[in-house]
Amino acid sequence: MRALVTGGAGFIGSHLVQRLLANGDDVVVIDDLSSGRREHLDDLDVDFLCASIEDRGALREALQGVHAVFHLAAMVSVPLSLQRPATCLRTNVVGTAGVLGEAGEAGAGVVVFASSAAVYGEQDERGPGGWSATHPTSPYGVSKVAGEQLTALSDGAAMRTVSLRFFNVYGSRQETRGPYASLVPALAARARRGEPLTLFGDGAQTRDFLHVSDAVDAAVFCARAPQARGTYDVGTGVEVSIEQLARQVAALMGSTAGVDHQPARAGDVRRSVASVARLRDAGWSTSVDLRSGLEQTLTSY
Ligand SMILES: NC(=O)c1ccc[n+]([C@@H]2O[C@H](COP(=O)([O-])OP(=O)(O)OC[C@H]3O[C@@H](n4cnc5c(N)ncnc54)[C@H](O)[C@@H]3O)[C@@H](O)[C@H]2O)c1
Repeated sequence: MRALVTGGAGFIGSHLVQRLLANGDDVVVIDDLSSGRREHLDDLDVDFLCASIEDRGALREALQGVHAVFHLAAMVSVPLSLQRPATCLRTNVVGTAGVLGEAGEAGAGVVVFASSAAVYGEQDERGPGGWSATHPTSPYGVSKVAGEQLTALSDGAAMRTVSLRFFNVYGSRQETRGPYASLVPALAARARRGEPLTLFGDGAQTRDFLHVSDAVDAAVFCARAPQARGTYDVGTGVEVSIEQLARQVAALMGSTAGVDHQPARAGDVRRSVASVARLRDAGWSTSVDLRSGLEQTLTSY
């Protein structure tokens, strides 16, 4: 299989590229390096195009002979999306429309779109089938709802499409600073410096932490499984409070500095957990539990 990974120099994208190459696939990456790093792909045998997904000519070039498209390129920072909503929508919605359109023209058989739990905002009581309604609280979340809808509209006899709502993905190569910093590396960095682990709010807010190898595994599974079609939550289905996570990180890193509560951040949701039944029914479930995922991740730091 020849696969295109948009955003392949990023955190999840570079792990996905590595997995596809290990499976014996040919890989082409298009990435403008706005938040990714070329060195994530050092020593990997990929065709790399440093260009934006908004550049239709570059997309057409990248899509030659491609069977499967993994569309991960996006503005991924919620705070940045609040500062620059129009840029976020241009990259994440118009860019996604371009990827889908060009993938169809090029004859790709399947597109897997990286959506996000951010589509939910505050999760409701589950409706029939275990789903919450979507109430995005940021332009980023809005852009992912629109991306999913465009992805569904492109599904047809010639091209199968799948949207994966990734929950909180963690693992090696995640940014530790700046607008792209994520929780696990930020906590690990403070533990390493012997500083108390900063929690915003009371720490009782919950998240569903997904190891990057499971995120990649779900994407590859959905690209290959003909029965996978439509939208899926991708998470463990296990709700973990931020405070529990911080205590696990501290214990694994031998930190005794404790936690430090800062005022809650506006827009921080209370509960976030995946509904795993739909993807399990399609034949896939996670295989890395939080403890072993954290051990691998903290070792890599
Ligand atoms: N990390 C998570 O917890 C998480 C959770 C839910 C969804 N996602 C989604 O997964 C995907 C990958 O996220 P990530 O965490 O690896 O982030 P990342 O920032 O590491 O990866 C995004 C990549 O896209 C590239 N990119 C951005 N705009 C581009 C453009 N216009 N043209 C070409 N390339 C562009 C960046 O340079 C980067 O390499 C994103 O779509 C994100 O929304 C991530």
